[in-house]
Amino acid sequence: MEENRLVSEGAHNRDIEHESRLRPKDFSEYIGQKRVVENIELMVKSANKRNAAMDHVLLSGPPGLGKTSLAMIIAQELGSELHVVSGPAIEKKGDLAAVLTNLQPKDVLFIDEIHRMHISVEEILYSAMEDFRLDILIGQGASARTMQIDLVPFTLIGATTRSGLLSNPLRDRFMAHLHFEYYSAEDLSIILNNNSHKLHVKLEDKAKLEIASRSRGTPRIANRILRRVRDYALIEEHDQVEFKDVEKAMELLDIDSLGLDSMDRKILTVIKEYYQNGPVGIDALCATLGEDKNTIEEVYEPFLLQEGLLLRTPRGRVLSEKAINHI
Ligand SMILES: Nc1ncnc2c1ncn2[C@@H]1O[C@H](COP(=O)(O)OP(=O)(O)O)[C@@H](O)[C@H]1O
Ligand SMILES: [Mg+2]
Repeated sequence: MEENRLVSEGAHNRDIEHESRLRPKDFSEYIGQKRVVENIELMVKSANKRNAAMDHVLLSGPPGLGKTSLAMIIAQELGSELHVVSGPAIEKKGDLAAVLTNLQPKDVLFIDEIHRMHISVEEILYSAMEDFRLDILIGQGASARTMQIDLVPFTLIGATTRSGLLSNPLRDRFMAHLHFEYYSAEDLSIILNNNSHKLHVKLEDKAKLEIASRSRGTPRIANRILRRVRDYALIEEHDQVEFKDVEKAMELLDIDSLGLDSMDRKILTVIKEYYQNGPVGIDALCATLGEDKNTIEEVYEPFLLQEGLLLRTPRGRVLSEKAINHI
């Protein structure tokens, strides 16, 4: 994915450094997602009272909504170490077994993109999650036998952009399944306010609201826009970011009044021009766009659906009135 695209599946390389600076450090800095946070706080408190590992939890939702940040806060509140792995990057059972056998009691294992884990690797999680035990098959054919290795009690936090793609046995082993919602403009304003202090940027109120309403309900995007707007105001030698700086920066970033970027608009335009507003099946649509289906389904579609621009019907995707008027 190109570096300067604002909407993307994960963090850009350049984000990593900034994100660590802007990440909420504890629950008090973690804005919004009330329902998710309430559930997590309860689970953390209970675990701490029982002096036991917290129950396994699955966090699902579009990229940039705070799953990784929440996992970090959870580990900190538990006083445990956080171990981070990416599902698709674990190639062999042995690699995951090594991670599991290295955990200390009550540690947190965070598996990002858990729906993309290889099934053979995933299978060793079943007994690990349920009984804190590894079942390893040794030998082949008639002489094959299972060896069991005891693990310490630990907490698995799985993060996924597509909970629907999780296998049933894996999904069933999570005690809680928490879904992240897009943020309201109010919550994004609070986040922008906090982060503008961290970045030493002065933001005019009207400018802040404008960024909030054009950030696709996504804190990561709000942060990216904030940094671009800061750059723009700096170069223009404005001592605070004003509304017109935001407008100018949005123009440069090619983000429109609804917060749609060029790819969002391309999706809508293709459905309009090639498929007479739909319906069109997802495979045909992605082929015409020349884009990866995962990216379209995980990154772009959820927001277009939530904004009521795109509708899902049994016969495929259809543009709404709102979308037709917008483009
Ligand atoms: N609830 C929140 N409160 C404040 N900032 C947030 C929140 N959620 C996300 N962010 C900001 O967005 C960035 C991306 O969040 P992240 O946890 O990496 O998302 P995800 O793992 O879901 O893709 C964080 O670095 C942080 O600056
Ligand atoms: Mg993440």
